[in-house]
Amino acid sequence: MTSKQDTINGFFCPSRILIDSNPDLNTKKGKISKAKLIAESGFYDWLAPHYDRLQPVMDPSRYQAHSIILDVLNAIEPVPGRILDIGCGTGLLTCQILELFPDAHVTAIDGSIAMLEEARANLEDFTDRITLAKADFRDSWEDALDGDVDAVVHYTSLHHIPHDALREVYTRLFKVLKPGGWFLHGDITEERLPGPVQRIAENIRDFQRSSVVDDLADGKKLIQRLDQVKNANEKKGGLLELPALPEQQIAWLVEAGFEFATRVFQDWRLSLFLARKPE
Ligand SMILES: C[S@@+](CC[C@H](N)C(=O)[O-])C[C@H]1O[C@@H](n2cnc3c(N)ncnc32)[C@H](O)[C@@H]1O
Repeated sequence: MTSKQDTINGFFCPSRILIDSNPDLNTKKGKISKAKLIAESGFYDWLAPHYDRLQPVMDPSRYQAHSIILDVLNAIEPVPGRILDIGCGTGLLTCQILELFPDAHVTAIDGSIAMLEEARANLEDFTDRITLAKADFRDSWEDALDGDVDAVVHYTSLHHIPHDALREVYTRLFKVLKPGGWFLHGDITEERLPGPVQRIAENIRDFQRSSVVDDLADGKKLIQRLDQVKNANEKKGGLLELPALPEQQIAWLVEAGFEFATRVFQDWRLSLFLARKPE
């Protein structure tokens, strides 16, 4: 059992692990059986100081997807006052939400202390309206919340946990939402197309990425370094990315109790889903 006094580097840190999920369950048998959950690899701690600069290359959809999340939040009535950002990273989305809603409070959780340090610096104008907490998605992150929330936002973090854990997290998100509250959920999905069409889609993505590398100061060097880190991890068994099919995502949201579960935006492997807890 944790108490609210448990902290690491000043971040509230609930530490009860509620879900003991086995990453091997969702991987091809034996193939990446030594792969680590990304939260246990230190990968995001390494990436944190470079993260925002690399995003145009790593995830060209991020800015458009964030802006759709903000549009949807803005359309919700009444205006959401308490929001959870699950997997906040460097806090960009949290920051945009706090700017858009001057009375809102955001609880932002992430498993990487280095990411939270970046978020703390990026969010220094809003210290009275944020709670930053260090927690694995499988931890008791609910302990960081001060009551139920009007909306949950999420962007590209949950695909790092095994599917059984993901389904549990959907159920737990459902529980912390107020009736009528929305879950705005952007994540990497597995997309299956016939071979040649799949290659065309991947090529379009590579082209989008390569067209922005040159705009980054030190961009090529940073991307080379990123590849080196990924390759080094590959030798040790790899890092786990466990995207689910979009239809699975929707089925699991419905299974957790959500209504109106639907995909509202797609940019190749990036999908944005909406779902509401019934009123
Ligand atoms: C791709 S970043 C997304 C960050 C942010 N949402 C954004 O829009 O930029 C993924 C984040 O998920 C966090 N993460 C990955 N696995 C996690 C886990 N099991 N528990 C908690 N955080 C995790 C990482 O530390 C990282 O900050």
